[in-house]
Amino acid sequence: MKTITPKATLLIVEDDPLVRQSMAVFLENSDFHVLQARNGQEGLELYTQKTPDLMIVDLQMPEMSGIELLAAIKSDLPVFPTIVVSGTGSRDDVIATLKLGAWDYLTKPIEDLAVLEHAVNKALEKACLITENKHYQLHLEEEVDQRTAELQRREQELKMTLISIVNVVASMVEKRDPYTAGHERRVTSLALAIARELELDEQRYEGLGLAATIHDLGKVAIPSEILSKPGKLTNIEFQLIKTHAQIGYDILTEGTAEFPWPIKTIVHQHHERIDGSGYPLGLSGQDLLIESRILAVADVVEAMASHRPYRPSLGIEVALAEITRGQGTSYDTDVVTACLALFANKRFSLESS
Ligand SMILES: [Fe+2]
Repeated sequence: MKTITPKATLLIVEDDPLVRQSMAVFLENSDFHVLQARNGQEGLELYTQKTPDLMIVDLQMPEMSGIELLAAIKSDLPVFPTIVVSGTGSRDDVIATLKLGAWDYLTKPIEDLAVLEHAVNKALEKACLITENKHYQLHLEEEVDQRTAELQRREQELKMTLISIVNVVASMVEKRDPYTAGHERRVTSLALAIARELELDEQRYEGLGLAATIHDLGKVAIPSEILSKPGKLTNIEFQLIKTHAQIGYDILTEGTAEFPWPIKTIVHQHHERIDGSGYPLGLSGQDLLIESRILAVADVVEAMASHRPYRPSLGIEVALAEITRGQGTSYDTDVVTACLALFANKRFSLESS
């Protein structure tokens, strides 16, 4: 559809030469550019070749009638202004043309051609509005697409920044406490393998991976002599170590950045047990995030299967026996099942993680 130029092109399709000529002369005098066709077939050809701005069409014509012509361009009619001018004027004709999408209907003879000119101007104005509206909507859609893409890019940048901060924190914790070096990495790897087994959604999977990477962050506040003490811990020392879950949560809460994942909650809950026997809050069951329930199992399995400052490795079999013993009481049933399946099928190994 062309936009309206100062001199709009009108196509008159009319078999009566006198009527056609009088309309053409009148409209040319009103500063329109006028094309003339003697029947529907000629009209269709001119419509296709010259792409006029508006069409005035008679109904009864030889070779191709006005109704046949309208039917041929039916799909264009919602945006192409078409005025039917006919002498037959039967009610059925009017209905047929309007159903096909004609914009207006005038009855011949038109006593005052100014009425035709008025109908033409009105139709052109409406066509112009439709065109402008279409352009506006198209532009609006483009702008929305652009802004959405920009927001997604920024969100991705922010995620990458947050991920790099998490990695810096993780390496700080590990540098300070060499005995647990690699612990968080292996726990993360096992926790993510369990999450895949449980078909956790991507957003949760991502948050779990980050939380696992820094789950022992609170240990920065524990004296390193205690963390690396070779012998058995005293009760007081053990109580002190247990504060790391709360401290990790506090550190992440005091930070200014709000993560798009529940990292601080997962860190807070990683020593909770589903029967409420864990710490620091003694939460139970569904009050614990699924990510926390996964991390708890991965943490226990890795910790028991690894060498610690105060004892040698207990071995993976003992670790798996522990989670089997606590399945459904201390540990989430489905999480334990998923973890056992990973090791049973040798799809996961802590050594290679
Ligand atoms: Fe921990």
